[in-house]
Amino acid sequence: MTSAVTMNIVDNIAVIEVDNPPVNALSFAVRSGLQSCVREAEQHQSVEAIVLSCRGKTFIAGADITEFGKPMQPPALPDLLADMDTISKPIVAALHGTALGGGLEVALTCHYRVALASAKVGLPEVLLGLLPGAGGTQRLPRIAGVELALDMITSGRKVSSTEAAKAGLVDKVVDGDLLDNAIAFAKQVVADGQPLKRISDMTATVSDPAVFDEYRAKLAKTRRGFDAPQYCVDVVQAAVECDFAEGCKKERELFLKLMTGTQSQAQRHLFFAERQAGHVVGLDKATPTREVNSVAIIGAGTMGSGIAINFLNKGMQVTLLEMSLEALERGIEHIYAYYDGQVNKGRITQDQADASKALLSGTDAYAELDSVDLVIEAVFENMGVKKDVFTKLDKYCKPGAILASNTSTLNIDTIASFTSRPEDVIGLHFFSPANIMRLLEVVRGEKTADDVMATAMKLAKDINKIGVVSGVCDGFIGNRMLKGYGREAGALLLDGVAPVRIDKALYDFGMAMGPLTMGDLAGLDVGYRVRKERRERGDDVPVTDGAIADRLVEAGRLGQKAGKGYYHYEAGSRTPIPDPEVDEIIQQAMAALNRTAKDISDEEIVKRLIYPLINEAALILDEGIAQRPSDIDVVYIYGYGFPVYRGGPMFYADTVGLKNIVADMEDFKSRYGDDWEIAPLLKQLAEQGRKFADLAK
Ligand code: 3HC
Ligand code: NAI
Repeated sequence: MTSAVTMNIVDNIAVIEVDNPPVNALSFAVRSGLQSCVREAEQHQSVEAIVLSCRGKTFIAGADITEFGKPMQPPALPDLLADMDTISKPIVAALHGTALGGGLEVALTCHYRVALASAKVGLPEVLLGLLPGAGGTQRLPRIAGVELALDMITSGRKVSSTEAAKAGLVDKVVDGDLLDNAIAFAKQVVADGQPLKRISDMTATVSDPAVFDEYRAKLAKTRRGFDAPQYCVDVVQAAVECDFAEGCKKERELFLKLMTGTQSQAQRHLFFAERQAGHVVGLDKATPTREVNSVAIIGAGTMGSGIAINFLNKGMQVTLLEMSLEALERGIEHIYAYYDGQVNKGRITQDQADASKALLSGTDAYAELDSVDLVIEAVFENMGVKKDVFTKLDKYCKPGAILASNTSTLNIDTIASFTSRPEDVIGLHFFSPANIMRLLEVVRGEKTADDVMATAMKLAKDINKIGVVSGVCDGFIGNRMLKGYGREAGALLLDGVAPVRIDKALYDFGMAMGPLTMGDLAGLDVGYRVRKERRERGDDVPVTDGAIADRLVEAGRLGQKAGKGYYHYEAGSRTPIPDPEVDEIIQQAMAALNRTAKDISDEEIVKRLIYPLINEAALILDEGIAQRPSDIDVVYIYGYGFPVYRGGPMFYADTVGLKNIVADMEDFKSRYGDDWEIAPLLKQLAEQGRKFADLAK
């Protein structure tokens, strides 16, 4: 017996308790402790029933993910559970918190489950690129039905104990003391002489076997490119078609296949990357945070209104400040329309919508912001306008209020210099649509105070965002990396590669959309204006930069909003349709630059777009703009639609091999010129045979 698992016998009931903080994961100590306690309880003559419960905030939340990829010390979980399945005394699992993955599989091997009303259960393995590997795919359909099992196993969705009880997955939902209730339940089972409810003895049936193919077809769309969801369907189908032992064999086989594959490695990497992102280098975990109960947002345009919704959804007071009452009215209407839409779609009730709306107020007077805890500025992207706003904020806001800017390109230190309190100034760079996108770049200025940083990171979590720390530079982490990506998309067009081929290659790589479709969505006029201003300022902008995009804009093709950009769009549709007029514009641009079409493979298209991301990321790491490579992965997954199963650009680079990337880039440099200058850090790591992951801190 280990201290991670203990057993007490009270009134002929053996109470086995797991105590393995923070989430009672099934580490070696827990597995071996459980095995010996259960065996001891089986042999102990006075024991009539067993209750399995957990200390701390949750029931077992799954296998210990940190042990994955290493040799497994016996007992492996499936062996432990096979052993538990032979126990002749009733076992009751007492569920609180989240019984997830291997934790739910343990509970399903027990004969009964008693749960607190607040408890949730789920099999989230698919989110780690896996399938439940300890009988979960065989037991869940047998006890809860094929439909719910397919839903839970392919989505990883957690269900409440009430929903679980309706499906028979939980035997009793209780309030009050869980352990007392579970012991009482166990005593009743003994008193009633109830036969053991062993799920492995049950059968799983399905009314319409077509459900499996329907799921496969649906998942091919919604989880495009992912292996695990399809395998999940295969194993649930096996629960219907095979006996329990045969089904478990198939489950094991596919589980191991996924576990050793790159996709699961990538998804497990992201699980830890996401949590690691919250750790700010050089910031003590005990750094105090400032209280934030009220927020003001300056500028209620596209971003400002989206940002406001995040805080309203969390029940916080939000004040919008606009430069005119008309603009204010527009912003408020936009937010109201969002809540009305949510009600119409049945996502929230009218009361919830009304409560959120009641938290919103508006003003055009800075003096009314004298008591807010946090201000987020989202006005036009112009330093003069930002100066005006921050000067006023400095004048009217209370001491200690956090003053944030949502700027996407401007220097936070310069913005901070407009105030007498640069330590209170920070960048909070939301992504559009700001109420949906989960990424939040938290930009740490030269003088940003530690407690402001700590508050911003906590706030990100509170509003369900993933905060990633960025230093100050043009474009921060994400947009700065995009520059080379956009440059190469333009260069490929000038090499005569059709827009649809470029986009399809990237879509097939797994990106949410290709670069040109993305350009059409964002609007081609934005980049056009930037290039025009830079040329007017006398900056050295290569003639190839925007050579095609500028012609498109000048022909009125501003992107989706104009119904035409790199593609044509039917009224009301977002589907890009190739357009001969664009081919003509491309031909003209190529002729003007004396370019002829090249024969370029899809593989080269992907490399020419993805490798500049990796190269710029290496510069970003070298300059200390990003704290660690995995933060960059988080930025690209949550902000830019990079395929999850490739783990983000840094993880992907490591899987390709930095040596191979450098060799290809050298080849591109010899063929396409100095844009392909290799970042010193990338070169150095490749020469040393190292990976980006080796730089982790
Ligand atoms: N193994 C190892 N460590 C884990 C873990 C696990 N299964 N689950 C969480 N942790 C760690 C986290 O890395 C984090 O560590 P840190 O503090 O050093 O960053 C710490 O526990 C706390 O985690 P969270 O910050 O996520 O805490 P929350 O309270 O927000 O959430 C949770 C708790 C809902 C349990 C969430 O951690 C979670 O979803 N965990 C993963 C659950 C999971 O995927 N289980 C399935 C595992 S695969 C499996 O069981 C295979 C089996 O079928 C054979
Ligand atoms: P927008 O043009 O939709 O909204 C700006 C709003 O600010 C307008 O409603 C305008 O009336 C108001 N405004 C302008 N000057 C003001 C002032 N002095 N006082 C009060 N209100 C004022 O612009 P958008 O897209 O919302 O961008 C706002 C900021 O967010 C910019 O800094 C931009 O770079 C940044 N950003 C934009 C993203 C996007 O995808 N649109 C993404 C991330 C950041």
